[in-house]
Order: sequence, then structure tokens, then C-alpha cells
Amino acid sequence: MPENSKMKDFLDLTQWSRSELETLLDLAAELKRNPAKFSRSLEGKSLAMIFKKSSTRTRVSFEVGMFQLGGQAIFMSSTHTQVGRGEPLEDTARVLSRYVDGIMIRTYEHAEVETLAQYATVPVINGLTDFLHPCQVLTDIFTIKERLGDKFSDLKVAYIGDGNNMANSWINAALQFGFDLRIAAPAGYEPDSGLLKKASNDGRVTVVGEPAAAARGADVLNTDVWASMGQEEEAVARRQVFAGFQINEELLRLAAPEALVLHCLPAHRGEEITAETFERFQELIFTQAENRLHVQKALLMTLLGD
Ligand code: CP
Ligand code: NVA
Repeated sequence: MPENSKMKDFLDLTQWSRSELETLLDLAAELKRNPAKFSRSLEGKSLAMIFKKSSTRTRVSFEVGMFQLGGQAIFMSSTHTQVGRGEPLEDTARVLSRYVDGIMIRTYEHAEVETLAQYATVPVINGLTDFLHPCQVLTDIFTIKERLGDKFSDLKVAYIGDGNNMANSWINAALQFGFDLRIAAPAGYEPDSGLLKKASNDGRVTVVGEPAAAARGADVLNTDVWASMGQEEEAVARRQVFAGFQINEELLRLAAPEALVLHCLPAHRGEEITAETFERFQELIFTQAENRLHVQKALLMTLLGD
């Protein structure tokens, strides 16, 4: 393995200190207020983006983000590059490091992102794995801060649904920012047991079997699809298992009066959220999607900037 002199990667939310994350969120707010000020911040820099899974938001927000900062992004679909033909990530990492200033990857196994980071001499960003989705949840924290302020110690967040990459990243966020997180998941679909064990000491992360128990008094409710990318064949069976693990108007009556509803998108109306609730919170949900751009620009400036 080569000598690794790069500053940092962004593979999960616990790799950075809380103050580093807060600095990044402050920069994201400044980028949102005054994008023109940063239009040359990454002039001459390139980001390679490896996608083994589909994406709308992650691809477009990273690509536009690099462009708006004066740099460029290179989309590498696994079906049109040697990545999809079995070239080892260890080699891809070392080759790309000779061309570009950063690598973003979306893939299945989290270990692949770790391997890429280990061998790359430029920063690596996790754009989603089966295990984590840190760019999304950091954006969700930014969105909550925009609407409710930064008194995270008073915040109660409910996550309703699958104990997937989003739920796991919410656990990391709760550990970093110090808020109450109640996750309602069906038995057998709880978040990662290692992360839950890690969170068990701090007492602010709990898993419950009933959506109502998570939603009661919550300031923020969020959910995600019942079947994630790579689980398409389980989708029918999961519809049975997850029935009832839905954000709807009835559940919202248990939450705090002005509770927010977040959704990372894409959404399946009638499954994890009703069309009625989705449309009532659409302005917030699409602002959340927009915020991916601002937060990731801050991430890119922090990691790729001089
Ligand atoms: N929320 C999110 O990551 O969306 P995409 O899958 O479209 O990138
Ligand atoms: N859990 C979902 C998130 C999509 C942004 C998935 O992995 O497909």
C-alpha cells in the first residue's frame, strides 16, 4: 500500500469531530447565501464519481457542485468503465489518484469504500453504501438546523421504517450531535447491531417496535423506502413486513405540534409515507434535496481545497 499523505476522507459521520462537522455546516450556510463568492474555489480541480448504483440527487448535486466551484466532475458508471469489468478497486484508487483531486463512490459493500480510501492518495467521499449514507444525513442535520436552530440537545428525532443505511447514519448523527433518536423498525429489520451497541452507552438512541412509540413528542420525523437499492427482489415481501411503518397524518398527531417531516427521496407514496403527508411537507422535502448541493460543496471545498 502506498504512503498515504492525504488530509482526510468522508466515509462516515464519526470520522470527523463535531466541531469539524459544525465548521462544515457553517460553510454550507455561507455557500447557500453567497454562492458567487466561491465560484473559483476549486478551479482546476477534478472529482471522479464512481457509481455502482443508480442516483439522481447525489450525481447531479456533486456534479453541479464541482462546476459551481470552478472545477469539474467525471461520472464513472460501473457499466462503462473497467470498474464494472472487475478491475480491482485497489488499482482504480491508485490510477484515479494520479488524475483527480478527489473520488466520490456509491456502491454496495461498505468495505469497498474503505479499500478505495486506503489505496487512494486523494480524499474519498462515501456517496452511499448498503451500510451508510453520510452525505444525506449531514444534509438532513443542516436542514434541521436551518428550520429549528442548533439546540440539538433538546431535539427529538423519530425514524420510522427500515434499519438501513439511512437509519445507521442517523445513529452516527445522534452520537455526534447529541439528540434523542427513536427508531421504529419491524423485528429483524433493526439497524446495525454494532452501531446500536456503540450507541447503547449514551442512552439517547432507542429502537422500538411501534411507530407510535417513536413518533410521540418528536420534533422531526423521517423515513426511507422499505426496499433499498439492491433489495428489489424482496420488495413484495417487505410490503407485508413494513405495513404500518408509515408516516401519515394519524402518526403525526402524536408528534410535537410543529413537527417537521423529512424524506431523503426517492419516495414511495402509499408505502413509507402517504401522498397527503408528503405533499403537505413537499417544500421542506425539496429544500432538503436542494441542501445536498450546498452541504456537498462545503465538503468538497474542505477536502479538495488548497
Ligand atoms: N437521496 C439520494 O441519495 O438520492 P439519489 O439516490 O437520487 O442520489
Ligand atoms: N435506503 C435507500 C436510500 C436511497 C437514497 C437506498 O439505499 O436505496
